[in-house]
Amino acid sequence: MEPYKLLFVCLGNICRSPAAENIMNHSLARENLQNQIVCDSAGTSSYHVGSPPDVRMAAAARERGMTFTGSARQFKKSDFEDFDLILAMDRDNYRNILFLDTEDKYSHKVKMMCDFCRDRNDKEVPDPYYGGPEGFNKVIDLLLDASSGLLEYAIAQIEESKL
Ligand code: 4NP
Repeated sequence: MEPYKLLFVCLGNICRSPAAENIMNHSLARENLQNQIVCDSAGTSSYHVGSPPDVRMAAAARERGMTFTGSARQFKKSDFEDFDLILAMDRDNYRNILFLDTEDKYSHKVKMMCDFCRDRNDKEVPDPYYGGPEGFNKVIDLLLDASSGLLEYAIAQIEESKL
């Protein structure tokens, strides 16, 4: 069976979306689900194409015992076909993704990451780029919460597709 494919999207693909991708990959490895669910990330902009995760994001991750890897790329139209679920970090990302869905065929695949939060009421993962270290810690806290809800959702989607 083809794996269920998740794409995390932010603006630059160096802070929030690589964090979401790496945090989900940690959960998948822990649950031994890496073959059933696979992750990637992208930015709506091309500002940082080819760059690794931001050093401040990587440092915040290291404090939690995680290593973030990856290389930034820009979201492209073919991602709509290639992924099962596309997770926007904030409303601007959401709008910019749907702006590329010119034939209005894929909006059902695009959701806000915070829709999957269980404990937190935030509606967006805030952009930490121009702020201090607390912003990067908040990103990780939010993504840890949202990723557990998302993991449960993805497992349910896989089960449903088997029916
Ligand atoms: P990200 O953060 O969208 O979470 O990767 C940003 C990275 C770069 C910029 C803005 C946000 N920038 O303006 O270059």
